[in-house]
Amino acid sequence: MLKEEKILQALGFDLPVTCLDVTDSTNLRLKERCRAGDRRVQLLCADSQTAGRGRLGRTFLSPEGTGIYMSLLLPLPEDGLPLTIRAAVAVCRTVEEVCGLSLKIKWVNDLFLQGKKVCGILAEGVENMAVLGIGLNVNMPENGFPGVPVAGALNTDADRETLMGRIAFHVLKTLEERPDSCLSFYRERMLLLGKDITFLQSGQEKNARVMGVDDKGGLMVQTEAGMEILRTGEVSIGSHQVSCLE
Ligand code: BTN
Repeated sequence: MLKEEKILQALGFDLPVTCLDVTDSTNLRLKERCRAGDRRVQLLCADSQTAGRGRLGRTFLSPEGTGIYMSLLLPLPEDGLPLTIRAAVAVCRTVEEVCGLSLKIKWVNDLFLQGKKVCGILAEGVENMAVLGIGLNVNMPENGFPGVPVAGALNTDADRETLMGRIAFHVLKTLEERPDSCLSFYRERMLLLGKDITFLQSGQEKNARVMGVDDKGGLMVQTEAGMEILRTGEVSIGSHQVSCLE
């Protein structure tokens, strides 16, 4: 059972925090709360999810006891830098601070450790606010992640409540941070920088080299036709799917 007091202690200031043993999806539950009129900035965590949601209609495996499944209800940022970019930065900072591990960011918001995806982020809009969902595999479940060979875990002794509280702290801090400082942290950890990728545009597969990320979090790629900015869509490198901006 997750303990709200421990999360609050790690967070270091007061915020409505709710922990559930099991739920379908913390993102869904928080959207429901917001639609019902509870528009407070708040954190909802679960020990497991039965219908964890991933990007592009995928599911996010959420077994009990080994992972972090948390959602924050937040105001929409006004400076154009997507929440998903901020969240990727916040999770990297937390994992460096608490576990001493350095993660890589695969555009736009998948986090990797030693070639394995350990964290996924899903931001969804609701009533002019945003629900920011973060799934982090802290330790490997007994049965692994069946059917998801790319999935890995931090494999750390750090406790989940501390990680949850610190992630929430760092996410909220990025909302007050200058976008360029957030982006420079992000750029230093980019997995795809300088790599050749493929992406689909109007049904056509295109090759490109990743050159960086622009001020709005778009992926800058060099194609035969010149520089392009990818803001949405699927891109892949080797056999790996690469995230898109939402
Ligand atoms: C992805 O990798 O495609 C995004 C995964 C996001 C998973 C988190 S777990 C907490 C929150 N609740 C959900 O249903 N999804 C997000």
